Amino acid sequence: MRVFSGIQPSGPAHLGNYLGAFRQWVDVQSPDAFYCVVDLHALTLEIAPDVLRAQTTDLLATLMASGLDPEICTIFIQSQVPYHAQLSWLLECVATSGELSRMTAFKEKSQRQEGYRVGLLTYPVLMAADILLYETEEVPVGDDQRQHLELTRDVAEKFNHRFGETFRLPVGTQPKVAARVMDLQEPTRKMSKSISSPLGKLYMFDSPADIEKKIAKAVTDNDGEVRFDWIKKPGVSNLLEIYSSLSGETPQQVASRYTRYGELKSDLAELIIKTLAPLKQRRDELLESPEDLYRVAARGADKAAAVAGAVYRRAATAMGLT
Ligand code: AMP
Ligand code: TRP
Repeated sequence: MRVFSGIQPSGPAHLGNYLGAFRQWVDVQSPDAFYCVVDLHALTLEIAPDVLRAQTTDLLATLMASGLDPEICTIFIQSQVPYHAQLSWLLECVATSGELSRMTAFKEKSQRQEGYRVGLLTYPVLMAADILLYETEEVPVGDDQRQHLELTRDVAEKFNHRFGETFRLPVGTQPKVAARVMDLQEPTRKMSKSISSPLGKLYMFDSPADIEKKIAKAVTDNDGEVRFDWIKKPGVSNLLEIYSSLSGETPQQVASRYTRYGELKSDLAELIIKTLAPLKQRRDELLESPEDLYRVAARGADKAAAVAGAVYRRAATAMGLT
């Protein structure tokens, strides 16, 4: 099964990235799986060059510490495989501004930037290029990427219709629980690297004291009942889903063991700390030799380019490029 997924180096990874994405990636890793740090996508944010580089290095280490094994799957950096930007241009000549300006992520982010940059609008076309270059069948992602996946399929279908069968149509896959980890302070919006407040997002490598503090201060409600109900109790339900995703029980089973928010919160903080501590240690070790991380990435880029190059040439030829 050909698998592709990516993450932007727009900041350190948070619990939503881990539960919504990385754990699925590890579950389905194989020689047919490609995982990419999408640094070109991160350029759509206001981000200093040295910060972008450091965050890219950090994410390589984070992915491997989370269990991705470069001996099993391919891990690489998007900008090191030039076909991504090249295919993106071809697909920009297929996608329309109407379909791009309907994207929820674009609508939210463009409101925050006055005179938004063009890359913010074309972002999902580059994402479609990422996916289509690998003849991807499955894209394991969090719930927030569904719409981008639909667009990828639409663009691929339009291309195939107009220029002949070129791309395979991918499907997105989401985990059963924690596909959308919510902001701890505003539990009706997703936990986001770029938008959530410091107390709203829990980084994978926050200190135990910070994890305890953020979970203790997580917004709940004041009816005092531990019950799984996203409509009436989003804050508590978010904590229950996070717990369930880490313990393997259903959110309802977790809820049935607690009568007080305080106990649920302190057990949850302990569970998060216990799960992430060994990953943190491994990530710190990996960051001691960045050269090794970049050797892995270079090898990954070679493997990726071999696959992507063939698909790119097929698409370019189909469009009439010589
Ligand atoms: P990003 O950090 O936006 O590059 O996202 C990387 C991966 O993490 C994607 O598969 C997202 O769908 C996933 N993801 C991001 N935020 C969340 C969240 N709050 N809950 C679950 N998955 C998420
Ligand atoms: N847009 C994705 C996000 O913000 C990141 C991404 C870029 C991606 N290219 C991808 C995810 C290809 C899956 C497949 O989370």
